[in-house]
Amino acid sequence: MQTKAVRRFGILTSGGDAPGLNAAIRAVARTAIDIYGMEVIGFEYGYRGLIEGRSRLLNPKELSGILTMGGTFLGTSREKPFKDKNWENGDGVPSAVENIKRNYKKLGLECLVVLGGNGTHSTASLLSNEGLNVVGVPKTIDNDIVKTDMTFGFHTALDVATDGIDRLHSTASSHNRVMVIEVMGHKAGWLALYSGVAGGGDVVLIPEIPYNINSVLTTLENRAASGKTFSIVVVAEGALSVEESRLDKKTFKQQRREMTTSIGYRVAGEIEQATGLEVRVTVLGYLQRGGTPVAYDRILASQFGTAAAHMLARGDYGKMVALQNDELVGVPLEEVAHQVKQVPLNHRMLTTARGLGMCMGD
Ligand code: F6P
Repeated sequence: MQTKAVRRFGILTSGGDAPGLNAAIRAVARTAIDIYGMEVIGFEYGYRGLIEGRSRLLNPKELSGILTMGGTFLGTSREKPFKDKNWENGDGVPSAVENIKRNYKKLGLECLVVLGGNGTHSTASLLSNEGLNVVGVPKTIDNDIVKTDMTFGFHTALDVATDGIDRLHSTASSHNRVMVIEVMGHKAGWLALYSGVAGGGDVVLIPEIPYNINSVLTTLENRAASGKTFSIVVVAEGALSVEESRLDKKTFKQQRREMTTSIGYRVAGEIEQATGLEVRVTVLGYLQRGGTPVAYDRILASQFGTAAAHMLARGDYGKMVALQNDELVGVPLEEVAHQVKQVPLNHRMLTTARGLGMCMGD
């Protein structure tokens, strides 16, 4: 057994689930237990379990047979302890955070491993400022965490979205229809862009490029005029028009709250009204997040997980494991917190999409 800085640590999964979470928990815990002889305490439902002290010692048996399972066997939640409105000591620290610190101490933890997305890492960074040792592991189907080239979960969602587009092709062609497919991605368009390229979409609308509806209409009308009998429009759920991009954040959010349908339906309505083409909408929704992780996600999750355990052994805390240029590195949590990795406008995949003649809405 090798030497170790940490003897006992907590682990939790937080935020929206993503395929590969169980593979990552398994990798962290197996390396920690088998290589370093550490004890691993699993918390249920993310930070909520940590606040409420809902935890158990994970035994190696629980870690068998979970590599291929979707979801997270620990459960997850979108609990944000620093947003807690109940203050305890009047010292500026919310009581949820006081509870976390108390439970961390009571359970004799020397570190916390948190598996999650942007919200999870923002909380992790704040907990680190409060004096807790924290190591982050990046997961999300959105691939929108900064400082890592990739998150696990993304490739599984990408396959689901691509399969969706593939399937829409045959029915679109049979009926001479425009098919609008809405995929996840509130703030970043990675999934829409990649699945659009992989599935051969004709129009792809992403939050990073506000769309001009006339440009979409022209593309569809030109296709129809050139004898193409159907079209596929991929819309990220966070896509917005040029007009909306000029609104201040508050007004935009308010308008979105008041929208009775999701953006895919709005775009479809605009197309149908202006062109007379027959349009149908498919919202892929949570199908993108569920089910068995593809091999890539299992592998990346396993790599991140083992790397996190090695970081604990080295006492290398306050960092998120990341993939940069094919290397596993540790990135300070404060560099990840409160940020979103959007598609850069000069990204090679945008160049590819435009080279393929896809309309990006601009
Ligand atoms: O996991 C990220 C994400 O899938 C986003 O793309 C989506 O907007 C969001 O989660 C919705 O998840 P929930 O309904 O669980 O909050």
